[in-house]
Amino acid sequence: MKTQTQKKDNDTPPVRDTAKAEVGISVRAENGAENAATLGGDEKPQSVLRCGDSLSVLSELDDSSCDLILTDPPYNLGLFMKKRGTNIGKLRANHFAVASWDLLGFEEWTAKMDSFFAQAARILKKRGAVLMFMSIIKLETVKQLAERHGFYYKTIGIWHKTNPMPRNMNLQFVNSTESWIYLVNGATTGTFNNNGKVVHDFYETTAVRGIERKFGAHPTQKPLVMMEHFVSLLSNEGDLVVDPFMGSGSTGVACRNLNRRFLGIDVSPEYCEIARRRIFE
Ligand SMILES: C[S@@+](CC[C@H](N)C(=O)[O-])C[C@H]1O[C@@H](n2cnc3c(N)ncnc32)[C@H](O)[C@@H]1O
Repeated sequence: MKTQTQKKDNDTPPVRDTAKAEVGISVRAENGAENAATLGGDEKPQSVLRCGDSLSVLSELDDSSCDLILTDPPYNLGLFMKKRGTNIGKLRANHFAVASWDLLGFEEWTAKMDSFFAQAARILKKRGAVLMFMSIIKLETVKQLAERHGFYYKTIGIWHKTNPMPRNMNLQFVNSTESWIYLVNGATTGTFNNNGKVVHDFYETTAVRGIERKFGAHPTQKPLVMMEHFVSLLSNEGDLVVDPFMGSGSTGVACRNLNRRFLGIDVSPEYCEIARRRIFE
């Protein structure tokens, strides 16, 4: 297991009293799963992974302690797809069996998102940002919830996959895009490292490369090159980046590669283990 180079004396992701003792543990499984790993030596961890419910872990973080939340929560399309009775509905139901936010009714999902933005506004520094992937049909709801908690809406953008599954290609448009929303906490601008270059609200990649799945597959894994694009643009070296729905840990791998501190959370022990191996092995 690789450990990370320590960058600053105080570069451990800050957590409140009860969890402080656990800093240095990279994965803590709340349901008793044996997937914990400890960073070696006296080094403070640059990456901390927690297996559990994101709202509960976020509630342990100090106020104004984080620089960026880069995340890809469940889009909550599970019930929607099931009701449509398509094969995709059946497929998604299998894939998202453990994704607790993917099968909620609209009100319940909205309440969870509202609580998420309350925590996000509290733990982010002023001018800290959220970049959240989300289904395009949910973006207006997300924008309204975020604004309720003092976020300033900046941009909605598109990720275009150049080689999508050509499912139902003779019946309808092939689904080849996902969207994201960019918000700044309590200010109109945040870190934006464009280095004088024009950055479009559109990002194009192929699907995730096979090598990125060598420790196991996640059904909605995001390509590393795209996560590196957002990490380098929206944060600086040594910053603390949080992904409360990290899945296979793509945000964490990008942070490791770009010398950002990382706190990753996922409710699934299976995905936490994939993330742990991707980030630390
Ligand atoms: C869309 S996936 C993220 C995929 C990730 N971007 C990647 O590249 O692998 C969303 C993740 O949220 C997790 N999740 C769902 N409900 C959660 C909760 N209440 N707390 C923490 N994680 C949760 C799921 O297990 C799933 O892995």
